[in-house]
Amino acid sequence: MRLELSQTAAKVFKYLLISYAVVSIVYTVSYLYTNYEGTHHDVGIIVPRAPNPQQRQQEPLIVRPPPPVEQSFGDHTVIWSHTQESAQAMSEQLLMAKVFSDALGPTVLTPYFLRAKATFDKEDISISTLVSRNRFSVLSRLATNHKGPISAAVHINDNDEKEHVLQELRELWMTNPDMQQYVDIHLIVDIYDRQFNMWRNVAKLFARTDYIMMLDVDFHLCTDIRKSIRNNPEWMNRLRQGRTALVVPAFEFNLQEDGEDWRTFPSNKNDLKDAVNDDKIDMFHKAWIKGHGSTNYSHWYESDDLYKVTQYDFSYEPYIIYKKEGSPWCPERFIGYGANKAACLYEIYLSGIEYWVLPNDFLIHQTHRYPEDARRKERQYNRKLYMNFREEVCMRYARKFYMTGEWDTPRADNLKQECDKIHGFQRTIKSTTL
Ligand SMILES: *[C@@H]1O[C@H](CO)[C@@H](O)[C@H](O)[C@H]1NC(C)=O
Repeated sequence: MRLELSQTAAKVFKYLLISYAVVSIVYTVSYLYTNYEGTHHDVGIIVPRAPNPQQRQQEPLIVRPPPPVEQSFGDHTVIWSHTQESAQAMSEQLLMAKVFSDALGPTVLTPYFLRAKATFDKEDISISTLVSRNRFSVLSRLATNHKGPISAAVHINDNDEKEHVLQELRELWMTNPDMQQYVDIHLIVDIYDRQFNMWRNVAKLFARTDYIMMLDVDFHLCTDIRKSIRNNPEWMNRLRQGRTALVVPAFEFNLQEDGEDWRTFPSNKNDLKDAVNDDKIDMFHKAWIKGHGSTNYSHWYESDDLYKVTQYDFSYEPYIIYKKEGSPWCPERFIGYGANKAACLYEIYLSGIEYWVLPNDFLIHQTHRYPEDARRKERQYNRKLYMNFREEVCMRYARKFYMTGEWDTPRADNLKQECDKIHGFQRTIKSTTL
């Protein structure tokens, strides 16, 4: 009897031991597979978010999985590994200070603070957008309506309310499955408000797809823009070449109360045109025609084909879809209201990227009441800055095109046409041997 008992015990023990071994192997393999997949490069890779340098010096070069949501901010190390043997560590703060060196710092940046569960096709288009606290619910709505990749730069002020606002953000995340599925949140914590272009660059930098749509979060996507583009091989090819930005025309309701509920918005071009004819809807920011006029709305109403923007204005600030790699970043010196988005689009245009308007897709602004602070001073300051910036960026790309031998190619066409408008540009270029 005792013998039988101990034999049974031994069997049970053996069984447990084997199961344990099997389970650990399966667990380890799947862990390694999911976490280290895609990190097998040798040359010049950055391994982000590794543990701190003291611990890591004796360790082999292993990529740690990113810490869970409840992480501490900013205290990470970035490794530049040339080969497995020669890796150089630097603080993430130092690298980010350089990456965003035109912006005001210090900033604590946490990429993928909350990370979408979905895996995205590289060839997909991410909405790249900025969100501050008063737009949290608008982001959540966008996630649900869009159901596609969103890269959101979320700015939170580094003050007493920080923890409270972070909690709000987490709750928003927990309560909307579409947020969890589609939205990557990159957290920016600092004391500077309205560094819009820096935030734009954060959203672009960490977007997980090859193409992005630079969008203000309170726009409603009336049509399935991703589908129209992805189903059109010619347009996809344009994006792939990196020389085309696709413009999505933007509209707004004439009466604020008409534009509050997206469920009542037109969802195809014919219905939109009817609403325009009924004087209910018009181009976005009609009072500031330079902002969107280059889209040429009267042409758009008649057009069935993609068409090129020919009457560029330096104040033009359309919503565009373009390739992430190889396109200029938004100039971060523009802080606060005025010129920030226009400056970003201007440099993209000057770099030789053509703007082509999508014939059947459109956006409508969702109207809202937000308390607005005085923006006039910022606009004045940025207007002055923008004058200098245009001249600088003209000289800079002129030099670049001379050096690369592209001056006499179509790539320099946008620059020639735009920079000729700057007083003295021609003369300077002609008299200079760059
Ligand atoms: C807009 O398009 C119309 C016709 O489609 C054309 O006649 C007009 O010159 C264009 N305007 C601008 C500013 O490009």
